[in-house]
Amino acid sequence: MARKTSRVIRFGLIGYGKHGQWAVVPAMRAAVGVRLAAVADLMPSNLALLDDKSITGYTDYRQMLKREELDAVYVATRVETHCEAVTAALQAGLHVITEKPMATSIRECRQMIAAAQKAGKLLGVDFESRYITGFQQIRKWIAAGHIGHIRAIHIDNLWDGHKIWGPLGKRRRRFCDSSGCLDCGIHKLDLTRYFSGGGTWRDIKAFGTWFGEHVKYPPHIAIMACLDTGVLVTLNASFAFTAYIKRRLQGVIYDGLAILGDRGVIVLHKDPKGEKHLELAGEKLAKTIPFTEHGHSTVITLLLNDFAKSIRANTSLPAEIATGYDGLMAQYCADEANRLAIKNGDTGLLTPAK
Ligand SMILES: NC(=O)c1ccc[n+]([C@@H]2O[C@H](COP(=O)([O-])OP(=O)(O)OC[C@H]3O[C@@H](n4cnc5c(N)ncnc54)[C@H](O)[C@@H]3O)[C@@H](O)[C@H]2O)c1
Repeated sequence: MARKTSRVIRFGLIGYGKHGQWAVVPAMRAAVGVRLAAVADLMPSNLALLDDKSITGYTDYRQMLKREELDAVYVATRVETHCEAVTAALQAGLHVITEKPMATSIRECRQMIAAAQKAGKLLGVDFESRYITGFQQIRKWIAAGHIGHIRAIHIDNLWDGHKIWGPLGKRRRRFCDSSGCLDCGIHKLDLTRYFSGGGTWRDIKAFGTWFGEHVKYPPHIAIMACLDTGVLVTLNASFAFTAYIKRRLQGVIYDGLAILGDRGVIVLHKDPKGEKHLELAGEKLAKTIPFTEHGHSTVITLLLNDFAKSIRANTSLPAEIATGYDGLMAQYCADEANRLAIKNGDTGLLTPAK
């Protein structure tokens, strides 16, 4: 007998820190056919912020997994604990969405993928940019053949990572010590594969510059890499862009995107007012449309809706939800780029040529 499609999917959340509070819980509230049943966080002070008494709080997520009747778990702890929490939830027979970056190493990614396969459960990674309307439009234009075979994707994603001071400065520093500016730039690495139909990373090159910050990974990185599908990718990612001064740019983030096919291009433009536009210049079709983007909780809501649908219909994940393998691919490129940037040394400290 077919499963009841009206079934409400009961989620547990592990990790009710900044992202959990600002994005994941509001998204759970807005999602259709999804109910947040329980939340686990090590900090009782975070659990005290829950304003819905019907949601049970736990300081030990293993107790939550044992006591609650759940269908799925959303993991929004810091990256260092993703693997442990994801694996425990899968072993408890639950579907899982984990925050990006998926883990601290591809070994951990493989462990999580294997646990999902063993449990026969879905494992999704929150590469939520796949739900931004403008990026979905790009994928549709490419899939429709408007620019032919993709040969190159060039992306700039420069921002201040919340600046270096204040409580968010501490959070930024943690990100710089765990993944560098690729904690955020990893969304863009994933997008290149989402746009161009997947592929495996090869020939990764990278340089970084630290701007005098004492953090492990570069707050500013330049990556050049290839996908085995024949796509050349460059990504300039930054947490250093205006991070050390109070002033911000009008648009906060300096965003650039150009996709080159053998029969046309797609480019993201910003006008003097800071409004973004997407231009397609193809052999048969040329048009410019407003680039529509959304905040974290809006796109996570869309992701949750689709994830819940896949659980109810007992199907695999749609293309918009990054799988464990997509998470592993992004991790591989990010880790290798960070490793090479460290190996190559701080370009800001190079002795000028005489
Ligand atoms: N998708 C996005 O664009 C996006 C944006 C921001 C953050 N994130 C990701 O979200 C994750 C969390 O980031 P954050 O800034 O909210 O971090 P945070 O430190 O503010 O929150 C993490 C929370 O997890 C809790 N925690 C840690 N270990 C735990 C455990 N074993 N059991 C239960 N709770 C535990 C901590 O007490 C904390 O409240 C990171 O992976 C980060 O990269 C994603």
